Amino acid sequence: SRNQETEQAIPQLTLCDTNGGLNIMATSMVIGTQWGDEGKGKIVDYLAEQADVVVRSQGGNNAGHTVVVDDVAFALRLLPSGILYDNKINVVGTGTVIDPKVILAEIENLESQGKSAKTLQISNRAHVILPYHNRLDEAEEASKGALSIGTTKNGIGPCYADKVNRIGIRICDLMNEEVFKEKLAYNVKIKNKILRDVYGVEPVDYYEILKDYLEYADRLRQYVTDTNYNVVSYIKDGKKVLFEGAQATMLDLDHGTYPFVTSSHPISGGASVGAGVGPNYLKNIVGVVKAYATRVGAGPFPSELLDETGDFLREAGHEFGTVTGRPRRCGWLDLAVVSYAADLNSLDYLAITRLDILDKLPEIKICVGYTLNGEPVKGFPADLQVLEQCKPVYETLPGWQTDISGIRHYEDLPEAARRYVERISEVTGVRLGIVSVGPNRKQTIVLQDVFGA
Ligand code: GDP
Ligand code: IMO
Ligand code: MG
Repeated sequence: SRNQETEQAIPQLTLCDTNGGLNIMATSMVIGTQWGDEGKGKIVDYLAEQADVVVRSQGGNNAGHTVVVDDVAFALRLLPSGILYDNKINVVGTGTVIDPKVILAEIENLESQGKSAKTLQISNRAHVILPYHNRLDEAEEASKGALSIGTTKNGIGPCYADKVNRIGIRICDLMNEEVFKEKLAYNVKIKNKILRDVYGVEPVDYYEILKDYLEYADRLRQYVTDTNYNVVSYIKDGKKVLFEGAQATMLDLDHGTYPFVTSSHPISGGASVGAGVGPNYLKNIVGVVKAYATRVGAGPFPSELLDETGDFLREAGHEFGTVTGRPRRCGWLDLAVVSYAADLNSLDYLAITRLDILDKLPEIKICVGYTLNGEPVKGFPADLQVLEQCKPVYETLPGWQTDISGIRHYEDLPEAARRYVERISEVTGVRLGIVSVGPNRKQTIVLQDVFGA
């Protein structure tokens, strides 16, 4: 009779499939393929016009996504970039870490600019950043000296460490005064020992945190919900859901240039875990590729330019951090990195941004791979000492030396510009979806409908 039951179950599954099920789903995802600041915010904002829901699934206010709407620049950190439309649902999902003070300030700031956060949802499972996380972040960085990562000092790493260590405080805990008091007391006791005795820095004050956070809790309560359930329901209902990556592939905790990484999983698989949606729901994965490379913070950067071309890119591209204001390190586009990202994220499309920043260059180099002891390198080296010995292999392409920022159709781009982006597609094996020639919504050239049919 067991067999009979199984046999009966099969037609039901088939029925569910042909019923539409997976086929009617329209989701898309925007992922950073390099070291962050590729222009994810701009691409999300562009695609969000077609979306009903925008979801952040990892990271915290270490992110800085600048979105320009009608020549007004908005710098978003925790809020999804869909918040700048007034008709989208915006979700800060389970895999994020939330600094209540920062998100509340962001909401206030947005409202003061005439926008609304009334459609915001915050996962009841997301983890809360507390003042001891910031203090530990700073103390750990200082103690590492020359080996410091150059974190944003927002407490991101220590907060994720507590989550993995199962002593973290979640949003639902913050919403429950009794639970919060208990968990906070435990953490403050331990953290103060570490702060004082290990790092020799000021401890934090339990009562002060309690008072502040209970107030934050009251102000956040209206946004808190089971976003896991909601997001899957939206997908099943046929709403268009757009996942907004923060940070980028080379900053991924497992797959990036460890330990010079962030503490979350910015790759596409991370969005499945972080938003609480199974991997089959994730479609139309767009890898954002800045037309050259930047890195803010320490760590390997094989195609870095420490010469005047690097200075040119920094000045022409205004490459200074949105969050910290730090000058970003600049270099040639590294397709060893982007090809690695293509595989790690199973990219469907490329969105190439900031092509206009290269307008003035007479020639442009692209790193198409590395060699080690004269042999081509397969995959991406794990050992940073090995990575340091790798030599980038460059191709030199002609520049276009024309202002392309006003161009709206692919075929109107100068031939050299088309050749440049087509070479990126060729080497990485990922088709072109979008080419961006400026920060504004309209400065976007679309080659493919990325949301698909
Ligand atoms: P994100 O963290 O990936 O969202 O990127 P950031 O916002 O930190 O940095 C990207 C910067 O480039 C922002 O200031 C954007 O407004 C800007 N931007 C995005 N796309 C383009 C583009 O195609 N051309 C130019 N000139 N700027 C762009
Ligand atoms: P968006 O979303 C660029 C970098 C930091 C540091 C490392 C670890 O704007 O692309 P953390 O504070 O996360 O522990 O710092 O990661 N980093 C970013 N670099 N863009 C970001 O976000 C980043 N978020 C973190 O500079 O090197
Ligand atoms: Mg950024």
